[in-house]
Amino acid sequence: MKEEDRPARKVILDCDPGTDDAIAILLALASPELDVAAITVSGGNAPLARTLANACSLAALSGCSVPVHAGAAGALLAPYPPGWKGNGEDGMAGVALPPGAAPASALAHDAIRTILRQASRPVTLVGIGPATNLALALACEPLLATQVEEIVLMSGARGEGNATPGAEFNAWCDPEALAMILAAKRKLTLATLECGRIAAVTAARLAAFRAAAGGRASETAAAILSALLAGRPEGMPLYDPCALAWLIAPHLFDAQPAAVVADLGPGPSRGRTAIDHRGRANVRLLRPLDPDALFALLAQRIARLP
Ligand code: BDR
Ligand code: CA
Repeated sequence: MKEEDRPARKVILDCDPGTDDAIAILLALASPELDVAAITVSGGNAPLARTLANACSLAALSGCSVPVHAGAAGALLAPYPPGWKGNGEDGMAGVALPPGAAPASALAHDAIRTILRQASRPVTLVGIGPATNLALALACEPLLATQVEEIVLMSGARGEGNATPGAEFNAWCDPEALAMILAAKRKLTLATLECGRIAAVTAARLAAFRAAAGGRASETAAAILSALLAGRPEGMPLYDPCALAWLIAPHLFDAQPAAVVADLGPGPSRGRTAIDHRGRANVRLLRPLDPDALFALLAQRIARLP
């Protein structure tokens, strides 16, 4: 079957927007390879009320009528820690978004289960925030895991973390939820911190993004990328779009099998992902092969939006 004849992959996009989530959401909604059945939201980069409002605004900005569902305001066992300061109080580094429609009435973990239960073919779960909503959905109704084609998470780090020396932010926000997903025995792919570091926003990539010149969504995305880059001449990692780009353009990545466990201890390495390349693999770890091409994909796709 030719690529363009393949039916779009049905996905549920779980997120906590968040500047890099915003770019990832726009990429997903602009890409015909993906049929986004729902956007589900947790707190993380900002409190839930903020991330939810941002997700509703981003859906409106994209011109798509995708339902947005409120989910977890805290982790399974504790409140979420404060988000990264660079995203600001609004989670969007001060970039204004248009008003969005009201969220759908169903809560995230209920919506995820309903979509899985009713799907005529398996659904891919993409998580670019703390894994709380996805873990809750699968814990409530474990049999629905057979309806999951693949899980792709932006989570974890091969090396040094960003939230703590050991842990990546999403994994650190809810390590128990991540551990539940790691144990779900589904095809699981991780875009770790290192992916975002390779796919960093740089002045040259931002200039190329602007040159693709789309509509309002594109301008807003450029403003977000520019806010991320401000004061960082060395470039700024862009994490979440990697998880979506993998599903849209897998040739842009290397995917290496590995055994991963999440540290659930109370100590300083809580949330660290211990990676063993010799153990029995439970995940594939992504590595972008051509970050300039990845950025070109972002630019071209988001430029298609209104
Ligand atoms: C992850 O943490 C959040 O701040 C970003 O949105 C991304 O999902 C990177 O560690
Ligand atoms: Ca995120």
